[in-house]
Amino acid sequence: PKGSCLESVKIAIDTGYRHIDGAFVYYNEHEVGQAIREKIAEGRIKREDIFYCGKLWNTCHPPELVRPTLEKTLKILQLDYVDLYIIELPMAFKPGDAIYPKDENGKFIYHETDLCATWEAMEACKDAGLAKSIGVSNFNRRQLEMILNKPGLKYKPVSNQVECHPYFTQPKLLEFCRQHDIVIVGYSPLGTSRDETWVNVSSPPLLKDPVLNAIGKKYNKTAAQVALRFSIQRGVVVIPKSFNPQRIRENFQIFDFSLTEKEMKEIEALNKNVRYVELLM
Ligand code: A2P
Repeated sequence: PKGSCLESVKIAIDTGYRHIDGAFVYYNEHEVGQAIREKIAEGRIKREDIFYCGKLWNTCHPPELVRPTLEKTLKILQLDYVDLYIIELPMAFKPGDAIYPKDENGKFIYHETDLCATWEAMEACKDAGLAKSIGVSNFNRRQLEMILNKPGLKYKPVSNQVECHPYFTQPKLLEFCRQHDIVIVGYSPLGTSRDETWVNVSSPPLLKDPVLNAIGKKYNKTAAQVALRFSIQRGVVVIPKSFNPQRIRENFQIFDFSLTEKEMKEIEALNKNVRYVELLM
């Protein structure tokens, strides 16, 4: 609902969150920008305290569209730069007003683009100071290697945002990214919502997991807090989402306990290698 994002971001900033993960296709960047600007005006934070991540959508992969798309996001946010700008998905859709362009048979209309050329346009955005850093999202190893091995590469992706949580721990990708100094940002760190329109609900709800709950009991923490702690303790950045003030605060209370090596292994063993967010397109 209108205004809920504005309120949630303000509560999050008051709670201590500084990393805000957004995207044009979330249709709430105007509220995120407003929340950040209000908190700056209040004197609670400075712009440089905030780490805002924006995303380049699939319909904007042609190199000539990259900078104008980021400029549009900055205009919506009413900010001068984003801290991180990432390619949201490795595949391109037909450019145009339709976010999910489809043909008369309901099939997605893809677009042939060169990810390396898109990356060069991302590099130009960094050079222009519109993005402090650039990265990618939903890239597999092969797609990362394509960028890393690009002749004349100017900047490596600093991060790869992918689904990552105790039921989908990404051991191989995590190791590859570690070797290349690419930070994994884990989305759906709580196992996301149970919205069947885009979530694979055949995988059981993460937060009901007995191991996470039992470990939580020991530390007087919730399964959600244990799941988040597990990720940050293995070097995975987490971007939990909540519109509920109490849960926004709960998800921040993860810096006053730590999991033992044995508990980390126990949680790692929960990996089912099944995604909640299958991105079937
Ligand atoms: P809500 O907004 O009502 O809090 P993810 O971050 O993995 O995408 O998960 C987001 C989902 O998890 C949302 O449906 C959110 O609902 C819910 N959620 C967020 N924090 C918690 C928490 N601490 N305990 C239980 N559910 C949570």
